[in-house]
Amino acid sequence: MTTTIPDPFAPVTLGPVTLRNRIIKAATSEGRSPKGLVTDDLIDFHLDFIRGGAGMTTVAYCCVSPEGASAPGQILMSEKSLPGLQRLTDAIHAEGGAISAQLGHAGMVASKKITGVTSMGPSKFVNPSSMEYCRAIRREEITMVIEQFGAAARIAVQAGFDAVELHFGHNYLPSSFLSPLLNRRKDDYGGSIENRSRFVREIAQRVREEVGDKIAVIAKISMDDGLPGSIWLNDSIRTAQLLDEDRNLDAIELTQGSSIIRQMYLFRGDVPVSDFAAVVKEPMKTGVRLFGKLALGSFPYKDLYMLDAARQFVPVMKHTKLILLGGITNRGHIDTGMREGFDFVAMGRGLLREPDLANRIREDSTVTSRCIHCNKCMYTVYGRTHCVMEPDDHHGAVPDRNSPYAVDRARLLPLSSVG
Ligand SMILES: Cc1cc2nc3c(=O)[nH]c(=O)nc-3n(C[C@H](O)[C@H](O)[C@H](O)COP(=O)(O)O)c2cc1C
Repeated sequence: MTTTIPDPFAPVTLGPVTLRNRIIKAATSEGRSPKGLVTDDLIDFHLDFIRGGAGMTTVAYCCVSPEGASAPGQILMSEKSLPGLQRLTDAIHAEGGAISAQLGHAGMVASKKITGVTSMGPSKFVNPSSMEYCRAIRREEITMVIEQFGAAARIAVQAGFDAVELHFGHNYLPSSFLSPLLNRRKDDYGGSIENRSRFVREIAQRVREEVGDKIAVIAKISMDDGLPGSIWLNDSIRTAQLLDEDRNLDAIELTQGSSIIRQMYLFRGDVPVSDFAAVVKEPMKTGVRLFGKLALGSFPYKDLYMLDAARQFVPVMKHTKLILLGGITNRGHIDTGMREGFDFVAMGRGLLREPDLANRIREDSTVTSRCIHCNKCMYTVYGRTHCVMEPDDHHGAVPDRNSPYAVDRARLLPLSSVG
């Protein structure tokens, strides 16, 4: 018996919106909004992926509150950023594409050097990358953050986004609630996986109440975060099941890894230690040289590296679509995702390397990606995020280390800030 798989390049619905195809540009923090406002540079960056054939691009990431920032210059979802966001979504729609806003609160990944306040997580902790203390969030602050997600989603609707992507991954605030290692609360937000899932479920519910059926709601969730005793599949499948039963999400994007330690678990491939060391100042430079590989971890790259974990979620989802991520760079990978029961694929580094990869794959199914997973794009987040192998590309060949903005970011950002 032959199984028919969906055509990845045919239009498809995502909740209330229709995407022209099933290829999503994954969130890769852009560094193109130095004042926290949309720039022409940011618009051009996203237009490249849409002109290059992706069905939807993702703006990464947009803070729900100033305390939720993980890097300087991130866009805060507010009345102030609204006109620029409207310009961005208009430009994308004029090219026939769709656009999603990744909404996040960095929690313990936030840094006091950026936000001016002590970061917060489910329980007190010291972020091993930044060595900064993070305090336990108070009960009333949990309610406040849920409201902030709702307000940010309202801005996304006003700005004309087609979707919001709730960042429930990488040990940012919502994700850290899911971790038995980071969440040691004794109230009804800690303990059992049902309790640890309460915060993300309440955020999803509040966002859905706010957006109704005007736009799609996606959540990016860590299947496992690579930390011993932390999030693993048994728990994350249950969280996904609860979110599915709630029916507040249109899709779940499955990710892995943590932004507080062993970040390479999320990326796999080469560990760009010397490149990181080159863009940071002393004493961090020496620290990165000596301990960078230990802190970032080292995990070999493999095509479709998240598939083994992600396929565990397919039979569990009754109502919510699934987005496969991780090492997807050619037609064979996309078709494998479709065959395995995923509804969409998301691509990060492959599209940073070649923004027109989706078009080229559509035209010629034998096209292979030029991305070699050197991960040198990781350290470009200190300037304007881009692939370092595009000399003619207007995204910039190398980070401009003389730019005060780049230096400022390099001084302020811990290694944790990629994703
Ligand atoms: C330079 C860079 C920046 C990233 N920034 C974000 C981010 O802001 N938010 C996020 O959820 N993931 C972020 N990611 C992770 C990607 O969305 C994606 O999960 C990861 O790159 C794996 O997909 P890939 O194998 O297609 O690259 C980033 C990745 C890279 C390479």
